[in-house]
Formats: sequence, C-alpha cells, structure tokens
Amino acid sequence: MSADQERQDTKNSTAVDIDVSGIGDEACRRIAEATDLSELDALASEFLDKSSRLSQLKASMKDLEPEERKLLGARMNQTRGAIEAELAQRRSTLETEVIQARLSAESLDLTEYLGQTTAGHAHVVTRTWQELEDVFCGMGYNVETGPEVETDWFNFEALNLPPSHPARSMWDTLYLDTSDLDGVSDGQLVLRTHTSPVQIRTMLRAVRDGSGPPIYSVCPGRVYRRDTADATHLPVFHQIEGLVVDRGITMGDLAGTIETFVKQYFGSDMTSRLRPSYFPFTEPSAEFDISTPDGGWLEVGGCGMVHPNVLRSGGLDPNEWSGFAFGFGIDRLAKIRYGIKDLRAFMTNDIRFLEQF
Ligand code: DAH
Repeated sequence: MSADQERQDTKNSTAVDIDVSGIGDEACRRIAEATDLSELDALASEFLDKSSRLSQLKASMKDLEPEERKLLGARMNQTRGAIEAELAQRRSTLETEVIQARLSAESLDLTEYLGQTTAGHAHVVTRTWQELEDVFCGMGYNVETGPEVETDWFNFEALNLPPSHPARSMWDTLYLDTSDLDGVSDGQLVLRTHTSPVQIRTMLRAVRDGSGPPIYSVCPGRVYRRDTADATHLPVFHQIEGLVVDRGITMGDLAGTIETFVKQYFGSDMTSRLRPSYFPFTEPSAEFDISTPDGGWLEVGGCGMVHPNVLRSGGLDPNEWSGFAFGFGIDRLAKIRYGIKDLRAFMTNDIRFLEQF
C-alpha cells in the first residue's frame, strides 16, 4: 500500500498521524532512489530500527487517549508494512542489477574465435613416418606391416640370433608373461625390439603367395625396449625397416639406395657414408651416417647384405637370391632433421612443442 493511499484511508488525522504519513512518504521516496544495497541497508535501519523516528513515535504513544492510540498504532503498522514492502521490492531490483552487472563484466567476447579452425595436425613423428613412406614409395617400394607382439623366433631366431647368441644383449627386451597361455612357454613372446622381424614375414608371405622375390619393401612401425627414457632413448619408439631381395643385389645397390634416400629426405646437398659394423642378420654389416653442415657425421641407422641364414628363414635359397636390408629410428631422424634436443618432447603432449611442426 502506498503512503498516499494510507493517507486517504485515514479519516481521523492527527498531527502525529500526519507525521507518520510524512515518514512513510519520505522513506518510500528515498528507498526508491537508493542506488546500491548498502544505501538500502542504511535506509532500513534509519526507518525501522529501535532508534528510528517511527519507534520513537511509538514510545510517545503512551500519553495518548486509548482510542487515538489504537488508531495511531494501526497507522504505524501500515506505514511500517509499506516501508518493508518498498525495501523488499527495491532490494530485489538492485540485486538483479548487481548480478547483471557482474555477468556482463565477466562475460568473454568469443566472437573472434568464430570461424577459426582448431582441427590440429598429425604429430611430427607421424608426419616423418608418412614422409619416409612417400620417399620409398617414390623409389618403387611397398609398405609392409607386422605385429608389435612377436614370437622369439621372428624377433631373434629367424634373424640369425639363436637363443644363446651373445648379440641378443644388443636389445634390452621386454618379454610377455605367458603363464596364462596354453602351449606358450615362458620367454616365447616379446614386444618386438625392432622392425627387422617384418623382413622374415615379408619374405615368407611373398614366397607363399608367389608375389616375390623380387621384394622391395619398407616397414615402418612401433618398437619397444626395456630402457629408461632420457634425451636420446625412449622405451617405445619407431623404426623403419627396408628389405630388398632380388638377383645379383650388391653392396653398391645398398650404398646407392641410402644415398638417394638421404638426398630425397634431407636435401640434395647432403651425403651419406657407410661404416663397417656388426649385426647378426647382415653380412657384411654397416652403419650409415649423414653429413652435417659443419663437416661432421651423424649416425642414422644400420644396414648390410641380408645374411644367408636370414634368406633361408624367409624360405629363399641364398644361392639364387641376394639382398640388402636397413633399419633406423624414425623419432631419431625427426630429432636430427628438426634439431630437437630431447626425444622425450615427442611424448609430453605439450601443445607449445607440437604446434611448431
Ligand atoms: N634392427 C636393428 C636395430 O634395431 C637395425 C638394423 C640394422 C636393421 C641392420 C637392419 C639392418 O635391417 O640390416 O638395431
């Protein structure tokens, strides 16, 4: 009820009554004009507290006639109710304003992101893998794959590494627990330590389905070692294997292939060299290096002429066929090409690193 109505409703106006109406009018006007909640709190105590003018008037009522006291009491309650109602209404308006102000202050203008694509891109190692496939496909090679869980036979024995061969220690091998598998004895299943077992699978399949030799294939894939990650080692990394089997293949073909690859991948001003080395599955064996701008050499991978025992494991007669093979780390190659200091950066999923490639 507004103060005006209250005034009209009241027939028997007294001086005190007018004063009550005046207080009510003033309170309602000032409440309506209050601009924030603390001002409203101050008005609430000014007009409703014990020390307020209304409370003081009430205290002075004891001197009035009973009839008058009754009338004035009712008027005061009405006025009090009107002030309270006005306070509540204004409070709710101001609270809504506060929330609105906060919402618009905290809102983010995201329109600049509209239409921007954040689709991402392939990881630098995946891209390197794909680029390597492209280079070798351009040289007429097929892409082969093999399983990451291998048998000891494919991973070692067929590659001229019988069980007690000392060179097995060249690979820190992760063996699978086969105790739950019927008919598989312990130590028979490994996480492949290199992509070389795919050489054997490729030869056996070619012989089986009559598609080769000649074989010109590469096999990129993930490999595992029992290694602690550091700047130059990862326990899970990637290799690409090459295998060529044909008639009359020589070490010259191997050297020429490596040189062509290096020029294709790193640029025509780069060159390669072979250094004598040892691998059980090749004879002779070599490591191949690439030249660096400062006149030095960087070791990239291993290679050699496929060992006669390996050709036999693949179902081929070494008197009829000869071949070469090579293998190197894809991650390492990306590290060299992009000058990455620490191999672990490939695994950290740090967007600031990944965005650079
Ligand atoms: N498998 C070897 C390794 O992981 C790399 C390698 C060396 C592969 C010589 C080959 C090769 O095909 O001929 O260390």
